[in-house]
Amino acid sequence: MSEQTRIRINGQEYEAAVGSNLADVIKAQNIFLPSLCYYPHIDPPLGTCRVCTVKINGRPIAACTVKVSPGMEVETDTPDLADTRRGMVEMLFAEGNHFCPSCEKSGDCDLQGLGYRLGVTVSRFPHLFVDRITDYRPQRMVIEHNRCIRCRRCVEEVCTDDGKRVFSFVNRGNETEVAIDYEQEARLSEEQALRAMHICPTGAILVRGDSMARPRGERKYDEPAESFSLPVPPRLTHANGKGKKVIATTSLAGCFGCHMSLLDIDTDLLDLIELVEFNRSPLTDIKTFSKRCDIGIIEGGCSNSDNVEVLQAFRENCDILIAVGECAIWGGLPAMRNMIPLKECLLEAYSRTTDKAKGLVIPSHEELPELLDRVYACNEIVKVDYYIPGCPPDASHIWKILRYLVMEEPYTVTQAEFKYD
Ligand code: SF4
Ligand code: SF4
Ligand code: FES
Repeated sequence: MSEQTRIRINGQEYEAAVGSNLADVIKAQNIFLPSLCYYPHIDPPLGTCRVCTVKINGRPIAACTVKVSPGMEVETDTPDLADTRRGMVEMLFAEGNHFCPSCEKSGDCDLQGLGYRLGVTVSRFPHLFVDRITDYRPQRMVIEHNRCIRCRRCVEEVCTDDGKRVFSFVNRGNETEVAIDYEQEARLSEEQALRAMHICPTGAILVRGDSMARPRGERKYDEPAESFSLPVPPRLTHANGKGKKVIATTSLAGCFGCHMSLLDIDTDLLDLIELVEFNRSPLTDIKTFSKRCDIGIIEGGCSNSDNVEVLQAFRENCDILIAVGECAIWGGLPAMRNMIPLKECLLEAYSRTTDKAKGLVIPSHEELPELLDRVYACNEIVKVDYYIPGCPPDASHIWKILRYLVMEEPYTVTQAEFKYD
């Protein structure tokens, strides 16, 4: 029998086997410990994602890479650890192209689920909008390199019946990427291919015909059970006194879906109207600010010069600015053009609609807003006070924030109300 010792986790004493994996010991006590790469049966552990970082005797270290030894003093739940883990997940989101609203794995994706669990509403790092390949050459799989977080799970775990590896890492440092051996991939059974898709913690490995087999709404992270206390926006300064609060809304490079969601609060709208009035907004058709506003709700990012002017006017005239929806938060679907130079986008858009007699004509006029080189998130242009993710955000999430701000009610959301897709 292995030697036992006593260690302290978050100030409480536990018995554990000397040499056992610290991540296993922590999880066995039902203490929350995030992980994206760890599998207990892979020894030595991969240690690639670092989201399981804890403090041991005051020093931060990835728990899954540590073996239990006597005298350990472990902390798993401090504000700076929460911030470090959140920062790591934000970096993973910013480093790849994680367009959850259009991703086949959405709802079943561990990276996405961890983003929810850690309360990530926005990445504090700029999105890189990388342009890696999507590989359709494998027989059963599609490999979407833009979503790979290089956790190494597939490299270690996916083998043919005779033990040949299917995946490997090639290149080094920033250039590291997963390579697939097409010959070995073709020898995988359907079951083995599906397992590869499921062990990938993101939507980087998909199996043709099976990636959408489980319907949305019935996926792993669609469970409505959990409740989240997200960071909250600053309180209103009551710029307009104790009377009705004044709200302005706009849609920049968006589709009006977020506005539809705002209206989707159904009969609660009647309560809202008692407490607020709308100023500049497509809902009122008021086109300029006629008074200072307490809350500005922004849908969409900035794709052209007009979007930038409108956003700046909202910042100037609103006490609290809320970016609503993925397009306002990081660019959303319009930002899919960020991987392609603007000139190429315009050529592609207009070369097929060209009047042969006139040749290629790209519309341009002094009254047409100028297209920006790429789509910008709102917080790249002005300071944003709060973010409500989703495509579109859930109606009750928007409503709960308004109740928090206007009626000063407590603010928590459920898993079903906190979504990136
Ligand atoms: S569902 Fe997961 S893999 Fe897909 S885009 Fe979102 S975070 Fe990335
Ligand atoms: S393809 Fe998936 S499993 Fe493989 S390294 Fe990338 S994220 Fe990890
Ligand atoms: S789970 Fe520990 S480093 Fe990834």
